[in-house]
Amino acid sequence: MKILVLGQGAREHAIIKALIRTGTPAQDIIAAPGNAGISFDVRCETELKPNDPLEVAKFALQHEIDLAIIGPEAPLVAGVSDALREQGVAVFGPSKQAAQLEGSKSFAKEVMAAAGVPTGMARECETLQEVEDAMDDFGAPYVIKADGLAAGKGVIVTSDRAAALEHAAKFIDMGILVEEFLDGQEVSLFFLSDGKNVMPLTPAQDFKRAFDGDAGPNTGGMGAYSPLPWLPDNFVEEVERTVAIPTVQELDRLGAPFIGLLYCGLIVTERGIRVIEFNARFGDPETQVVLRRLISSLSTLLYKAATGHLETTAQPEFSKDAAITVVLASEGYPETSAPNRPIYGLTEAEQVEGVEICHAATKFEESRGGDEVLLATGGRVLSVVANGADFAEARKAAYAAIEKIQLQGSHYRSDIALKVVN
Ligand code: AMP
Ligand code: GLY
Repeated sequence: MKILVLGQGAREHAIIKALIRTGTPAQDIIAAPGNAGISFDVRCETELKPNDPLEVAKFALQHEIDLAIIGPEAPLVAGVSDALREQGVAVFGPSKQAAQLEGSKSFAKEVMAAAGVPTGMARECETLQEVEDAMDDFGAPYVIKADGLAAGKGVIVTSDRAAALEHAAKFIDMGILVEEFLDGQEVSLFFLSDGKNVMPLTPAQDFKRAFDGDAGPNTGGMGAYSPLPWLPDNFVEEVERTVAIPTVQELDRLGAPFIGLLYCGLIVTERGIRVIEFNARFGDPETQVVLRRLISSLSTLLYKAATGHLETTAQPEFSKDAAITVVLASEGYPETSAPNRPIYGLTEAEQVEGVEICHAATKFEESRGGDEVLLATGGRVLSVVANGADFAEARKAAYAAIEKIQLQGSHYRSDIALKVVN
């Protein structure tokens, strides 16, 4: 089976490593555009523009692609899945219309209301006055969400009224959703969906704030771990029954079947499970730990979902290992961007037992001496992923590895999975 993976981040690198680990030959995979790290593992088509539906469809036909896996949200919202399906290519990734579940928070709220899915109370606002009124009604802490794609930076949760209003003013043109504050542990749970049936993967927790102790601004995600030993036994079954199935059925009823990955972002409150967001794709960095534990063939699972055959597919198997990932970020992330700087020590880091490195924003450049140097080119540079018999072992490996990596000004959180060590 020839597979095209669209995207260029650590999530795509993790998907590719998992495909290979679960039986897909590396030579059957093409990444587009990929990145420096991915190019060590598979062929990268660096010139292909992943957000261009016609270009991607043409490429897939020319290269006889059997399965296209779409990593990021941008190609989905641009309609790349639709263009591929029109050419008869099996695609793991929802249509433009179904991807609105992620692209529009108000659409997601409408689907949840129609499907009876538990979520926080929210109000759509078009003016700052409406935002202020909603803030008064819900009270502090304030949860202000931009109603569109904002690269993980569209949400602020704060008791500082001025900061909440400033955030709303920045995104008011997109529309704003003011939501009730939900208190509890966050869980990311992914479901494969073939448009009618769903299949759960395994829960993970993401660390959204920039600094230790959940301080600092929200980011795209600074680390993750899986499994979540503190969840009740029936948790996955309950989310499947109360969230994933009704959502997929409602989208099907609307004529927008969801074929791809349904990312359920949840908060476990005292009053029960609540959805805080849906995404239409694998989460980053949760994918790095979820797929690290996958034993079943990833290509088979995604192909069955893409072709409408989940009902007859066996549940995926996950190892009992603990997996953690720690994200290395550039100086100033997420608030300012740093210049491209060289990264050293990756080879040593990868030699730590149980460790794997997924690249996000890296590229090779020829130095003055003619050698190739690896440069960091963005905010989240790479994910160090480690597994072990328990979280103490996995943490030890991940942090031993990340300490070997040198990138001027870089930072990472030191408390990923710390609370589950005992
Ligand atoms: P989202 O992009 O909707 O996942 O929001 C980003 C982060 O903001 C989430 O991971 C939560 O940490 C936080 N958040 C979002 N909605 C709420 C809410 N209603 N109550 C509390 N925290 C929230
Ligand atoms: N880790 C959060 C996301 O992928 O949206």
